[in-house]
Amino acid sequence: MPTLATTVDGLKLPNPFIIGSGPPGTNLNVISKAFKEGWGAVIAKTVSLDASKVVNVTPRYGKLMGADGKEVVGWENIELISDRPFKIWIEEFKKCKDMHPDGVLIASIMEEYNKDAWIEITQRCQDAGVDAFELNFSCPHGLPERKMGAAMGQAPDILEEVVGWVMSAAKKPVWAKMTPNITHIEDPSRAALKGGATGLAAINTIRSVIGVNLDTLRPEPSVEGYTTPGGYSSKAVRPIALRMVMEISKLIEKEFPGRSLSGIGGVETGNDAAQFILLGADTVQVCTGVMKFGYECVKPMCDELLAFMEKHKFETLADFKGKSLPYFTTHMDLVKRQGERKAAQKAAAAAATTKKVVLADGEWSGDEFVKQSDALSRG
Ligand SMILES: Cc1cc2nc3c(=O)[nH]c(=O)nc-3n(C[C@H](O)[C@H](O)[C@H](O)COP(=O)(O)O)c2cc1C
Repeated sequence: MPTLATTVDGLKLPNPFIIGSGPPGTNLNVISKAFKEGWGAVIAKTVSLDASKVVNVTPRYGKLMGADGKEVVGWENIELISDRPFKIWIEEFKKCKDMHPDGVLIASIMEEYNKDAWIEITQRCQDAGVDAFELNFSCPHGLPERKMGAAMGQAPDILEEVVGWVMSAAKKPVWAKMTPNITHIEDPSRAALKGGATGLAAINTIRSVIGVNLDTLRPEPSVEGYTTPGGYSSKAVRPIALRMVMEISKLIEKEFPGRSLSGIGGVETGNDAAQFILLGADTVQVCTGVMKFGYECVKPMCDELLAFMEKHKFETLADFKGKSLPYFTTHMDLVKRQGERKAAQKAAAAAATTKKVVLADGEWSGDEFVKQSDALSRG
């Protein structure tokens, strides 16, 4: 019988499904609900020392629907970090650990470029009993205007320095959460790991404009008729998240073996989670999925991941972590491999009778166009 239980950076998790920082971890009530429903860990909504500087607006979400008009495939938010007072958060962290001593509670923290502030927020959360930290270097809207969030995540030198400040005070594991709004995610990832981070988490939301209302001609979400680009999440971002997780995993494998990785972005099912783990993630986080399906969705996710493991006879998550990574290569190598395979096929006697389905581009006539296009997706 396979098990989902796993230990990451010394944190004992009943399963790898973690509530990602955001509305599903916005206060003690909902964090308790998450533990009751069986989530592996909870990352609370990002906190800062002075919440009075954080002013949210409404509406702050925008949804992209699928062709059926029912399924949410993409979600934009212009929500900031928590606007609840830090003092209240500290009380709730303490109460949470009293109520759920075995529940793994992770504080997501963010501050300005100020050593004392980062050390203070780390120490005060730690004293309140949190089990680990996630450093939010990745919120793409609002906070960068104060040189916070993604503004730090896009500046590797600053990132390394700030991680170093936190590590000087932290006695618990520290994950740095990376922004996808950068050309090469390896650069800030390397900086965070050089700064001493125990692990990484990726990705935060992708800078986006969800759409323009064709009646009012105003971009959405519209606040007093205006908007600002926000962060994109949900299943539409999963392919981008998988690519970035793969790139970070390769970096960890090569330069920082043993550091952990939490995969985030459009996880809604156990099979989604399996893909992130196959690309090197130790855990997965779910934020928008909980907003779409409720806290209860962790149960079918666990069942589906277990069914995947049973099918492949994997006993533990470690049995398949990173198992698909060796199958990434360069395009040049794909061409070489395909050339070799085709040459071998041609040489075989059976190849003489094989009907040629995939034509060279110059041979396409326009007849059977759909069939030929389809054949190219099968190789
Ligand atoms: C409404 C909303 C608020 C969020 N707030 C935070 C936040 O406070 N801190 C943070 O690190 N990430 C925040 N995120 C980002 C998520 O934690 C996650 O990285 C991202 O949404 C991708 O995962 P998902 O597709 O499962 O939502 C927020 C996301 C959403 C949708």
